Amino acid sequence: MEVKELIIQAIKAKENAYVPYSNFKVGSAILTEDGTMYTGCNIENASLGATNCAERTAIFKAVSEGHKVIKAIVIVGNVNSHTFPCGICRQVINEFAAEDIKIIVAKNESEYLVKTMEEILPGAFSKEDLGK
Ligand code: THU
Repeated sequence: MEVKELIIQAIKAKENAYVPYSNFKVGSAILTEDGTMYTGCNIENASLGATNCAERTAIFKAVSEGHKVIKAIVIVGNVNSHTFPCGICRQVINEFAAEDIKIIVAKNESEYLVKTMEEILPGAFSKEDLGK
C-alpha cells in the first residue's frame, strides 16, 4: 500500500475522533507485516487521563487481531503543522515496530515527513532490555 493511501485512510479515521475536551482531532493508519491496514482516532475521556491517542487506538486494534509487527504508521493531526506522536505512543510504537518502520507525520497527502524509530525515540527502553 502506498504512503498516500495510508494518509488518506488516517485522514478519514480522524473524522471519528471523540474530542469534546481538546477539540483536537488526530487520525492514524498503520500497515502491519502482511499488508493489513488498521486505523484509529483519539478517544478522550472526562477524566482526561483515560484518553487514548489515535496511534494507540490503531495499534491496539491491530495487536488484538493478531498483528504484532508494524511496517508503517501515519499520524495526522493539525493540518497546518506536523503532529508528532506523544511520548507514550512512541514507546508503544517501539514495542511493535519492524526494524525499518516508517513513521509518517503528515499534514496532508503531499506534505509529510518520514522518520525512523531511532529518530523519534533514541535509546529506547525495549523488550531486548528485558532479554525478550
Ligand atoms: N493526541 C493523539 O491522539 N496522538 C498524539 O500522539 C498526540 C496527542 C491526542 C490526545 C488528545 O485527545 C489530543 O490529542 C490533545 O492532546
